[in-house]
Amino acid sequence: MNEPEYKQADGAIAKLFVFNSAINFEMSKSVFGKTLRKDFSFEDGYIPLGHGSFGAIPNVVKQKQREYQDKSEAHPDRWNRFEMIPIIESNLGHLSRLIKCDAQDINFVSNSSEAASVILRSYPFKAGDKVLHYQTAYVNVNKALEFIRDQYGVQLVTVELKYPLEDQEILELTKQAIDREHAKLDEPKIKLAVIDAISAAPAVLFPYQAATKLVQENGILAMIDGAHSIGQIELDIKSLDPDFFFSNCHKWLMVPRGSCVLYVAKRNQGYIHPTTLTFAYKHHDDGFDTSTFKLEFIPPTIDTSNYMCVEEALKYRESLGGEEAIREYTHNIAVEGGALVAKMLGTQVLENSSKTLTASMVSIELPPFNTSLTDSEISSFIMKKLIYEHHTMAASYKNNGKWYTRLCGQVYVDLDDFEHAGKALLVILEELNKQ
Ligand SMILES: Cc1ncc(COP(=O)(O)O)c(C=O)c1O
Repeated sequence: MNEPEYKQADGAIAKLFVFNSAINFEMSKSVFGKTLRKDFSFEDGYIPLGHGSFGAIPNVVKQKQREYQDKSEAHPDRWNRFEMIPIIESNLGHLSRLIKCDAQDINFVSNSSEAASVILRSYPFKAGDKVLHYQTAYVNVNKALEFIRDQYGVQLVTVELKYPLEDQEILELTKQAIDREHAKLDEPKIKLAVIDAISAAPAVLFPYQAATKLVQENGILAMIDGAHSIGQIELDIKSLDPDFFFSNCHKWLMVPRGSCVLYVAKRNQGYIHPTTLTFAYKHHDDGFDTSTFKLEFIPPTIDTSNYMCVEEALKYRESLGGEEAIREYTHNIAVEGGALVAKMLGTQVLENSSKTLTASMVSIELPPFNTSLTDSEISSFIMKKLIYEHHTMAASYKNNGKWYTRLCGQVYVDLDDFEHAGKALLVILEELNKQ
């Protein structure tokens, strides 16, 4: 078979690996794993298991970004006035094909925290409007919700989730909250719901498609926090039809930090304005007024080279076999690695009976420990030891009264990397018992 070729930034020609749809995990181990770390800029000895937080870019992407930065310096006026925007738009085009939406409905912002603030701070809430969210939402998103509560008098309806949960249980808890609030006939109904695609802590895949449908059927706008989703799970925005969606490209898609795609359904575009207002700002009474959505998000003077690297990141990912092959490997290695670490620790992975909670990040229960440290001191103690003494990283957090740690599968990790984290955690927990 003639495999397609791919020209790397250094001029070398690489073969594209072509996978069958039913990819064999064992076979994929010859493509993926720690040998790929040479394609990245990690320092020697670093075991990268925590990239769900900040991601990592291959050297070819880093080189591409530097090229764009050099072009900007070579002729700042030509670049910023004429050449930069078409390249950003072309990269948005690549993203729109990847997540299946109209390129006219997406813009770049720096990160998911900004995307959440853009939506929540610009939507025309009235005092008393209710917003439904889960206590497991990301802290910066919950803080943006606190802001609109304090500033505009929005009321927050919080659904508590105690994992492990079946998808159906999450949906039932959501339905109960909606029914309870909507039965209060003299109070405003819930206006918007904040739904994770994948939550960060605990690291679990959320039934976001069914939750979107459920809230929309009840007349509620669906804002999907997909911070971890692009590059980790398959997305189809057209069939999901959320009101708002955003995803970092720097976490799982290998695009430089910070880059986040913000999708707004045409029916809401008139309401949404960037955090930094510019020449294109215009008030619209009608959400359907799409006339300034693209223009308003043209960034004022910042380094936009990160936004221009989607195409190069996708090319690199194609050279490894493409999105489906990457998803298969990163999921399987997270499941296998999570099981190994749980066995080493004598605990279990955070999963439900239908095994829907693990995408490519796995939450592993920590064994009980005895310490006088506070929760935030425990989390920081484990993190510092992992980073400075064991050259790796795993975020640790409490859920439903138990401690968990989060390990991330990625194209450049192997099973023995998880073993390294397991050994490190055993040593650290021993030390924690003495604190
Ligand atoms: C679920 C979720 N939402 C939002 C964010 C915020 O992302 P950023 O730090 O890029 O703003 C994160 C970050 O980890 C997250 O996990």
